[in-house]
Amino acid sequence: MANGYIAVFDSGIGGISMLNELIRLMPNERFIYFGDNENAPYGNKSKRELFELAISGIERLNSFPIKALVLGCNTLSANLIGEIRSYSKVPTFGVFPPIERCVVNGEKTLVLCTVQTREKIKNHYGVDVVGLKNLASEIERCAFCLNDVDFSKNLSLYSVGKFCKKKEYYDTIILGCTHYEFIKNKISDHFRPRKIISGNFFTAMRVKKYFENHKSLENNYQNSVLFIGKNAEANKKFFVLSGQIGSNP
Ligand code: DGL
Repeated sequence: MANGYIAVFDSGIGGISMLNELIRLMPNERFIYFGDNENAPYGNKSKRELFELAISGIERLNSFPIKALVLGCNTLSANLIGEIRSYSKVPTFGVFPPIERCVVNGEKTLVLCTVQTREKIKNHYGVDVVGLKNLASEIERCAFCLNDVDFSKNLSLYSVGKFCKKKEYYDTIILGCTHYEFIKNKISDHFRPRKIISGNFFTAMRVKKYFENHKSLENNYQNSVLFIGKNAEANKKFFVLSGQIGSNP
């Protein structure tokens, strides 16, 4: 299907940071966005619950002519990418905290992510990983008043010793949840790292390369995004606002 939509799926507004990156790299594609805000946050749910939500999200998107599925959600990707790929009828891409890139360079690295993503990655790479239980839902709740999000308070729920809270200790902070892009400045002010990165750019590049290799990048359209689901209107409003927040890593 050369001219279908590229579908982006997340628990709520977080995947809009992925959507922005995809739009930046592929200016002529048409997108469809489903944020499952009613069931957010995903980050504290069991794998079984996540799978059921993923299936129901994919089913909704399948009723539209989609040509690819992009999970704008590290939690779904880290825990279920294999299962979701087997279920999905179109090429499916996940987003992951880009840890290997930092570890290879020997950088002191902290990954901030959801509880379920932490479960999946905590022992793998020898970096500090903090699973924040409430942050994604706070961002979801404060979508239109992001200044009210209290990042330091979220962090203070975690004991010192597990990781270092000092300014300038970490070279790199990895945002392992797409929601966190929208409070990147607060996170940066808190840790003062040399850099903050996320998996969004790398995923968007993989999607772009896939369509380039298949010679099916669009050039006849102007970007457009169709928002679906119960919170479609609010998500659309947030998408417009996110252009001012500057969600690109
Ligand atoms: N934005 C998603 C992620 O990247 C999910 C956050 C949540 O719903 O807990 O993991």
